Amino acid sequence: MFAEKINEPLSIRNGHLFVEDCDCVELTRRFGTPLFVVSENHLRANFRHYQSAFKKHWPEGRVRIMPAIKANPIIAVRRILTEEGGGCDVFGPGELEGALRGGVAGEDISVNGSIKNREVIRRAIDVGARVVLDSPRELELCEEEAASLGKIARVMFRIKPHMKELETESDFAPGFKICYLTQVIKYGIPTSEVLPMGPRAMELPHVEPVGIHIHMGRHSKKLEVWESWVRNCVYLTKEISDLMGGWVPQEMDFGGGFPSASDHDPDVVVKGYPGPSLDEYAQTITSALRDTMKECGLDASGILIEVEPGRGLHCDTGIHLTSVHNVKEETATLPRKWAEVDTSEVFLGVQGVSEEPYFNYVVANKMDQESTHKLDIVGLTCNAEMLVIDASLPETERGDVIALLDTGSYIEPMAANFNALPRPGTVLVSGAQADLIKRPETVDDVFARDIIPARLAG
Ligand SMILES: Cc1ncc(COP(=O)(O)O)c(C=O)c1O
Repeated sequence: MFAEKINEPLSIRNGHLFVEDCDCVELTRRFGTPLFVVSENHLRANFRHYQSAFKKHWPEGRVRIMPAIKANPIIAVRRILTEEGGGCDVFGPGELEGALRGGVAGEDISVNGSIKNREVIRRAIDVGARVVLDSPRELELCEEEAASLGKIARVMFRIKPHMKELETESDFAPGFKICYLTQVIKYGIPTSEVLPMGPRAMELPHVEPVGIHIHMGRHSKKLEVWESWVRNCVYLTKEISDLMGGWVPQEMDFGGGFPSASDHDPDVVVKGYPGPSLDEYAQTITSALRDTMKECGLDASGILIEVEPGRGLHCDTGIHLTSVHNVKEETATLPRKWAEVDTSEVFLGVQGVSEEPYFNYVVANKMDQESTHKLDIVGLTCNAEMLVIDASLPETERGDVIALLDTGSYIEPMAANFNALPRPGTVLVSGAQADLIKRPETVDDVFARDIIPARLAG
C-alpha cells in the first residue's frame, strides 16, 4: 500500500488519512464523530525525546520529566506516560486523583497551583507527593497536616525570578515586557514573602524543603528569555540559600512552556516565528543553571532537574475528526459556500473569527484529491462558528471527514457543553489497534448535575 508521510503519526494511504496504521475513515465509522484521536506511539516517542535531550545536557544528576496532566488528563494517556517513567505535575485535587488513577507513584507527583486548600495539601502529603508552595500560608498548612499525619512534607518554593535586564516583550501582550508580566501575574510566591519562608521552613519539624520551582508560561519562544529566566532563578535561589544557612536545592523544576513546533497558539498574539529545537532548549536551561550556580558558589552536582511539558509533549499526538453534514451555497446575493460539520468551537477551545486557520486541516477520505474549492468550515452551535474561513478543499459533500491536526494538548479538557451538546469521546491508536479511552458524553450526562427544587418539580 502506498504510504506518504505527513508527519510522525500521520500518513496518506490509498487516498485516506491514517493515524499510525489506522484509517481515519474507518475510525469514524466505528466510533462516530466528532472524535478526538491520540497516537500512543507518537506520545511515547515525544516523551523519550524530552528525556534524552535533558539527560544528554545534564550529566550532573538525574532528570525527571513531569508531564503536566492538564494538557491531556485522560487516564489511559497518563498510563502511557507512567509506563515511560514520567512523573506528573498536577494542579488541584482533581488532577492529583487523575495522576493516582493513572498509576503515578505518590513520590513522583508534584502538586502545584495557587490557593491550595488544607484538603489537597493533606492528600498530597498522605500519598507522598511533593507540594510546590505558592504562599507562606501553604507552608504552615504543610506543617500542620504533616504533623497530624505523622509524616514529612517535601516542599518546593515556587519563586518569581525578576529578569530585570530583559527587554523582550511578551507574545501574549506585545507592548508589555516579560520581566514585568512575570512579576504582576499571580503565579509563584512574591519575593518579599519567599525570603522569610526559607528560614521558617528550616524551623518546621515536619517540613523538608527539597527544591525550587519556576514556571514562566509561553511568553516567548526565544532562548534568551529562557536563559534569563533560569539565571535569575539561580540568583534568587542563592539569596534564599544564604538566608537558610547555605541550603542547596536537591531538585530544580523549570515548569512547562516549551512550544510545540505544530502549535498554532490561538491565544498568543505574536506567533508564527520558529521556536528552538528541544535540544537547544535543554542545552540553554542546563547551561544557564550550571554556569549561574557556579557563579553563585552553589554546588550543582547531584541535583535532580525536572521539566513539566504540556503542549510540547502532547500537541502533535492528537487529531480531531468531524463529518460534513451539509454543504450549502449562496449564489444569489454573493458567492459563498459552507461545509457544515458536526464539531464546534466549544469542543476545540477557539472562538470568534480568525483570518489564519486555528488548525491545519485535511479531508481524511480525499487525501489524493486537489484542493480546488473554497468553503468556510463552520461548526455546530448557534454561534457563527467560523472554524476555518475560506478553506481550500477538494469538492466537498455530505459524509466527507475533515481532520483538524495537532489537537493533542489542552483542547479535549477545555471542551464545553454549550447548546447542551454532549462532548466528544477519545480513541487511542497504537499501530493497527484502536480503543475508546473516553466515551462520548450523552445528553443525560449533560444534565446529570441539575437539581430541580421540590417547588418546581410539578
Ligand atoms: C506549573 C505548570 N507546569 C507546566 C505547565 C505546562 O505548560 P505548557 O503546556 O505550556 O508546557 C503549566 C501550564 O499552565 C503549569 O502551570
